[in-house]
Amino acid sequence: MSNVTDSPSDPLTPARRRELLEATYDMFMSSVAGEDAESTRFGQWVRDVEAAGLFAFENRRRGPQGPEVAFARTTGDALEVLNLSSYNYLGYANHPEVIEAAKAALDRYGLGAASSPVHGGTFDLHARLEAELVDFMGLPDRGVTLFSSGYAVNTGAISAVMRKHHHVVMDRACHMSILEGAQLSRAGLHYFHHNDPADLDATLRELSSQTHRILVCTEGVFSADGDFGRLKEVVAVAKKHGALVLVDEAHSFLVAGPNGRGVCEAAGVLDDVDLYVLTFSKALGGIGGALIARSDLARYVGWYARCRMFSCALDPAVTGGVLRALELGRGPDGDARRTRVRDNADHLRQRLAGKVDLGTSESWIVPVTYGDEESTLPLLDFIQRRGLDGSVLQFPAVGIGESRLRLFATSEHTIEQLDRAADIVLEAAEAQGFGL
Ligand SMILES: Cc1ncc(COP(=O)(O)O)c(C=O)c1O
Repeated sequence: MSNVTDSPSDPLTPARRRELLEATYDMFMSSVAGEDAESTRFGQWVRDVEAAGLFAFENRRRGPQGPEVAFARTTGDALEVLNLSSYNYLGYANHPEVIEAAKAALDRYGLGAASSPVHGGTFDLHARLEAELVDFMGLPDRGVTLFSSGYAVNTGAISAVMRKHHHVVMDRACHMSILEGAQLSRAGLHYFHHNDPADLDATLRELSSQTHRILVCTEGVFSADGDFGRLKEVVAVAKKHGALVLVDEAHSFLVAGPNGRGVCEAAGVLDDVDLYVLTFSKALGGIGGALIARSDLARYVGWYARCRMFSCALDPAVTGGVLRALELGRGPDGDARRTRVRDNADHLRQRLAGKVDLGTSESWIVPVTYGDEESTLPLLDFIQRRGLDGSVLQFPAVGIGESRLRLFATSEHTIEQLDRAADIVLEAAEAQGFGL
């Protein structure tokens, strides 16, 4: 990893530079100045930031999402970096047996499913993956519905189950796909304070007299904070008020819990969760997702989730690869990887603790809060040029002034790689003044 390079000389005036860095994602979302004003301003912003050598998003990776990766930036720079920006938590995205299984499925079934799952797009391979999921979860009376993304599980399931006059009550830190599902459903939308069962209780006390259907949404591991959902307490409160419960285990399925069944398993609430959401894009290394629910409910959602009924089924190669990843991940291979990813995350946290703001992180997501939106591009540029890539989150994914660099630990990183990553983050904290 020898790509310490400086940013090219900056062609911008200091004032224009400040203006560009102060631009935030939401600034381009609406405009009153004519139909194409946002896209024109956004396009100009990207071109100017690229010309200054600072645009650090949308890099073109040259290989798989391993612990190290080479990429070309759109600024023209070719860099080799430690990769802590990918949620390939257990390394299955590029595992040889997973690739073999995907190739076999590709040969047998072809590239695309070429039909909606309800019509002609369901293959026997999909049914095998569904059966494997139910078996792995140890919930024989449940059904599974596959989706072509994790995002679509939340938008599809919530909008299928909830209606106007119902109420969705979500943890304030829940993912955008949950919010969007709730908005699509046109149910009343309410938030409870992050991981706060008492606040949930107060909200539900008011609502439960007004409606016969309330859905409480929370997560196993929160993707912005990297902390675990307080599922035991949250589920108990929801059930006390007769509410349905959705738990999104996108970042915890196959990683958390004694057997990898998620934080729900660790909290002992698997049987009480009505809508269990998982994605194939994280620990399983593919793309797609699934809803696990009471059989009738899962089947109903399969038909009434519009993004499933009116969209093509999950492609065969990914389905075959994900199935093999699950077979590996539920056994001793997965046990070893789960232990490694947890140990690696602990090591990374220990290296950074007390020196930068790690918030409440306790999982394999290690966010380092640096604050201002305008620090984002200089920070990414700095760490990439020193040999590290991470994933940034800023408003509206997190609050204004709470921007953070998310580092994803995986089972495949070595201690030496994690130490180097930590050193680069601390160097950036020193240079940019966000150290504690
Ligand atoms: C909590 C959560 N749910 C759902 C999703 C969407 O999953 P996918 O990327 O598989 O569509 C994400 C994405 O990162 C997420 O963090």
